[in-house]
Amino acid sequence: MTEPLQHRWSDALMDTYGVPRVALVRGEGAVLTDADGKEYLDLLGGIAVNALGHAHPAVIEAVTEQVSTLGHVSNLYIAEPPIRLAEELLRHLGQPGRVFLCNSGAEANEAAFKLARRTGRQKIIAAENSFHGRTMGALAMTGQADKRAPFEPMPDGVSFVPFGDVTALEAAVDEDTAAVILEPIQGEYGVVVPPAGYLAAAREITARHGALLILDEVQTGIGRTGWHYAHQADGIVPDVITLAKGLGGGLPIGACIAVGPTAKLFGPGHHGTTFGGNPVCSAAALAVLRTIAERGLLEHVSALGKSISADIEALGHPAIDHVRGSGLLLGIVLNKPIAKQTEALARDAGFLINAPRESVLRIAPPLVLTAEQAASFVQALPALLDSALGKATEKKATEEEAQ
Ligand SMILES: Cc1ncc(COP(=O)(O)O)c(C=O)c1O
Repeated sequence: MTEPLQHRWSDALMDTYGVPRVALVRGEGAVLTDADGKEYLDLLGGIAVNALGHAHPAVIEAVTEQVSTLGHVSNLYIAEPPIRLAEELLRHLGQPGRVFLCNSGAEANEAAFKLARRTGRQKIIAAENSFHGRTMGALAMTGQADKRAPFEPMPDGVSFVPFGDVTALEAAVDEDTAAVILEPIQGEYGVVVPPAGYLAAAREITARHGALLILDEVQTGIGRTGWHYAHQADGIVPDVITLAKGLGGGLPIGACIAVGPTAKLFGPGHHGTTFGGNPVCSAAALAVLRTIAERGLLEHVSALGKSISADIEALGHPAIDHVRGSGLLLGIVLNKPIAKQTEALARDAGFLINAPRESVLRIAPPLVLTAEQAASFVQALPALLDSALGKATEKKATEEEAQ
């Protein structure tokens, strides 16, 4: 019964997303079922969110217990789950610091932006093609002019440098720079990985000028790349880390972690949000972190990510250029702009993936995806690409005929 739901969606909800093709009613592990009873392998995980897949017992149990005990109190009162969560996030970081809990990735980046302004400096450097969220501050730091343009003027003071270019960063950062904000991998722009050493160079440059290094780990954090935080692979310590997506395993929660003295830049009254650190969402996040440890998911993600990449490249399909990314955040780079057609064909064949760019397919599945599930997609991929190539040729021929 997808169609009536599509009509109701378009009548009742603001048209910010278009009308989705699929209406989902149920999920278990990495498998989703739609309103017409069709099953899909979820290789997108709610856009890198459902770390433990759908209906994971640990999340169900934690949320049920917490909501039946103490659901919400606001930050006028203490509840223990957000404290435990902040402690755990810092323990995984291995650094002294403090955490601001919020509800989404954009909000985590808003907090980071405000924290940067508390240094007394104004300039923020961000990367071209970056994505940091849709609220005004996060949007101001988003390096995609088409997303900012309809909402100008933006908050002032942000400039952009090419992602991955150390020389450009070196030239942009000075003694007036409050912060540099970077994604360890640009997820929304098609899983773009910077050259080796880029984050370490950014750390060195910012430290030298007394500017903060903010790493937006909203998409890369919480085990996604096989590390608790993706930057840990680079052996650096940033000043600020922002998180959301995978953190709550499907419940809305974000975090802005500040390390060392940066953690003291906010005082009472500087920032806040009613739901921040909500006990139910915090309990879900604690269940996610506990399950990642208990199930050895970091190792699983690293190994599975490597084998998926290798297996896709080994297909030797003429439409595949290479696979990039880390862990279970992978971009399949095509040498033709057929990603949208492939996404649609994959959906028909029961695989949910997406096409962040015309020639890039992204997969960001639940971290609990099994090797067998991954293999079923890899096996199906050549036929999907063949059909997409066929469709692209057909479309071109029709267009030429029409001319
Ligand atoms: C790197 C990054 N930062 C921030 C955001 C925004 O997060 P949210 O949609 O939870 O506001 C996203 C969302 O895709 C993201 O990928």
